[in-house]
Amino acid sequence: MHRTLLLVAGIAGCTVPVHEPDDAPAEYGQRYISIGTDAIGTARAVAAQHGAMFDVIESENGVSVIAFDAEDLEELSEQMHEQHHRCGGFILHESLEEARSALHPPLASEVTIDYTLDQAAAVNAVLPALEANRILGTIGELSAMQNRYYQSPSGAAASTWLRDRWRSFTARTDVTIELFDHGYAQQSVILTIPGSTLANEVVVIGGHLDSIAVGGNTSTAPGADDDASGIATLTEITRVLLAKDFRPARTIKVMAYAAEEVGLRGSQGIVRDFKKREVNVVGVLQLDMTNYQGSDKDIWLMKDFTSAAQNTFLTQLIDTYVGATWGLDACGYACSDHASWYRAGVPASMPFESRMKQSNRSIHTRNDTLERSGNNAAHALKFARLGASFAIELGKGELWNPTASTLTTPSDETPACRWTLLGLLLAASLAGVMLAGRNVLTSRW
Ligand code: BES
Ligand code: ZN
Repeated sequence: MHRTLLLVAGIAGCTVPVHEPDDAPAEYGQRYISIGTDAIGTARAVAAQHGAMFDVIESENGVSVIAFDAEDLEELSEQMHEQHHRCGGFILHESLEEARSALHPPLASEVTIDYTLDQAAAVNAVLPALEANRILGTIGELSAMQNRYYQSPSGAAASTWLRDRWRSFTARTDVTIELFDHGYAQQSVILTIPGSTLANEVVVIGGHLDSIAVGGNTSTAPGADDDASGIATLTEITRVLLAKDFRPARTIKVMAYAAEEVGLRGSQGIVRDFKKREVNVVGVLQLDMTNYQGSDKDIWLMKDFTSAAQNTFLTQLIDTYVGATWGLDACGYACSDHASWYRAGVPASMPFESRMKQSNRSIHTRNDTLERSGNNAAHALKFARLGASFAIELGKGELWNPTASTLTTPSDETPACRWTLLGLLLAASLAGVMLAGRNVLTSRW
């Protein structure tokens, strides 16, 4: 499978960032990257132009690990695009050890997961509450930001915006939302619904929060499809699971990764941290581009950098609950954050909006807008149904409020309304307590 790493040709619409303004933090020093062995000449030429360091450390299965100067990464990115028609086309690693592990297949997962479908009642109570219009609204809000670039102020603001949005979905104190700091402006956002009986087993559903287009920090990068659509899909799944008061047996984590577009950096940071803390992740679903229907079938499962067993589970979820058509395809390289988990030996899947060849040609440009998806979110809704059934069937557990109407979820109310309502309830119960107290006191008197 690693043979195909990075050997993609002509990803439509992919442009190479990046023009950092002078005040952006510069990156210096030696870095380790993994890159298709066929592109080594390109990397060597870029390094030679600046008299910079260049060293091929190891090559295997068509992929090489090289030591490269951080200052030349931008130029390499451009050359990879021009000469090899790849977006990015290399992965930036935090350490030599991590880069080397990109050459080898991951260790098999320690847990054997039972993919039996036995949560139909909960799934069928949740799915009708998912609303395409809410996904549409969230894509609209995210894509209205100037960009969500990992180093820009608006990219940073996107993180706190999303945290606040997710926080508004529940008053439950066991549900936590944290910002994961990577050392650059944008932070990843992680919402956790703790598991009841299998809390040490973690199910992750994620997508990437950042967007990119030429111009870096100051670019216009709406990223409506790539990947506001995935984040909006996750947001709607989360809203409904919390509205129904879902209490999973396994711990569920919803993740909006920072800095995917610049080498899967956010997800790699999180995977590194989870490995260090020995967090046992049993399944990962990546939603990256869900709203552009470019092909004859609805949902395309990427076969590379993913788990075949978990993908089969997904086909069963689609057939049983989603009511959509599906096919199999491949990215041909580590195209999104699922690859960070896959490399760590975690079962991962990447259901995609179209065949790779027919995917949205406007991504990574200022034209990646909602218009490209017909100003509706009908396609993304299928992925919301899939993601919700994945969370429930793999997370197991129960709904504490299965009949909750979507009209009464906190997100529908302005905070002011909510406080008024709370105030009224509090006043009413206080009055009750006082009356009861008076009765007690009265009777004592
Ligand atoms: N969403 C894209 C990947 C993608 C594009 C998948 C088109 C399928 C069709 C993703 O956000 C992306 O751009 N990834 C980078 C990965 C790289 C930086 C490791 C890419 O493709 O260059
Ligand atoms: Zn993407």
